[in-house]
Amino acid sequence: MASTHSTHKCVWFALVLLALFSLLAQSRPLQHQPSMEDMHEQWMAQHGRFYADDLEKETRLNIFKENVHFIESFNHAGEKPYKLGINAFADMTNDEFKASRNGFKASRRCESTHFMYENVTAPSTMDWRKKGAVTPIKDQGQCGSCWAFSAVAATEGITQLTMKKLISLSEQELIDCDTASEDQGCNGGEMDGAFQFIKQNGGITTEANYAYEGVDGTCNAKKKASHVAKIKGFEDVPINDENALLKAVANQPVSVAIDASGLEFQFYSSGVFTGTCGTDLDHGVTAVGYGTSDDGMKYWLVKNSWGTQWGEEGYIRMQRDVDAKEGLCGIAMDASYPTA
Ligand SMILES: *[C@@H]1O[C@H](CO)[C@@H](O)[C@H](O)[C@H]1NC(C)=O
Repeated sequence: MASTHSTHKCVWFALVLLALFSLLAQSRPLQHQPSMEDMHEQWMAQHGRFYADDLEKETRLNIFKENVHFIESFNHAGEKPYKLGINAFADMTNDEFKASRNGFKASRRCESTHFMYENVTAPSTMDWRKKGAVTPIKDQGQCGSCWAFSAVAATEGITQLTMKKLISLSEQELIDCDTASEDQGCNGGEMDGAFQFIKQNGGITTEANYAYEGVDGTCNAKKKASHVAKIKGFEDVPINDENALLKAVANQPVSVAIDASGLEFQFYSSGVFTGTCGTDLDHGVTAVGYGTSDDGMKYWLVKNSWGTQWGEEGYIRMQRDVDAKEGLCGIAMDASYPTA
């Protein structure tokens, strides 16, 4: 007992010291400002980044500087309800980033004929994570396979809802085995094509069985024949209708395509994202809920596939019910979900 008591005292003492130090640090910010070179070195160590030679390092440092300036001035301006952060993508230009990470290929959609959630009443908030229907955040790496991650997350959702079991499913199977014309592995694809593949294949196997490689590979026929999760088909959410999207997301995680092309998206770190973005759909993600923030902003809760370092532990809250019928970043333009 006595030792616990003194441990507590120690903790208190440490906290007081810490508070004093941080006060001191705050009162003399200039002396603690690291140089860009130092920041870059620290960042490299933190993210395990190595460069081929000095020239490459210098090029990357310059991009890093520009990005850090952009992020700091954005946060300093404080004009928007979200913050940016110096994340793992801080040494990439936005063009490089888009080329290596996105990969949604929009194709012409057929007119929706049936929308099974047409007449449902949506609750005011939803978070499928709390209902156990969302697997941990994954990381697509430098492969344009977002479409596979989006379709798999939606399939994991419907599988949990029907089988009462959350099973992490295989993106690599889609990358290697889905040969529909619009689905080209790391070169991009489309969620509806992935749902079509899962349906026609008679199911999809687990992440554990067919692990993610992040590069195009040859289809493993034996693994492809393992049908752990099955879907009956898929439906498209009525186009440009956030209210219809709400009804769908109220009932299951839904694949959505968005325009994720801007620097603000690249460096999003927290808050309700309100753009800047357009409607040139280039990224597939999954809407796993919705709600209203503490300061009264309606948002979509979106699961991304860029690891947990990006955004809010891998998620982004995107503004919901905007003036544009397409939704923010086009989120209501091309949403779909698998059916059980
Ligand atoms: C929704 O309700 C209308 C009117 O009752 C009905 O015609 C329609 O079939 C319903 N839609 C679905 C998907 O059940």
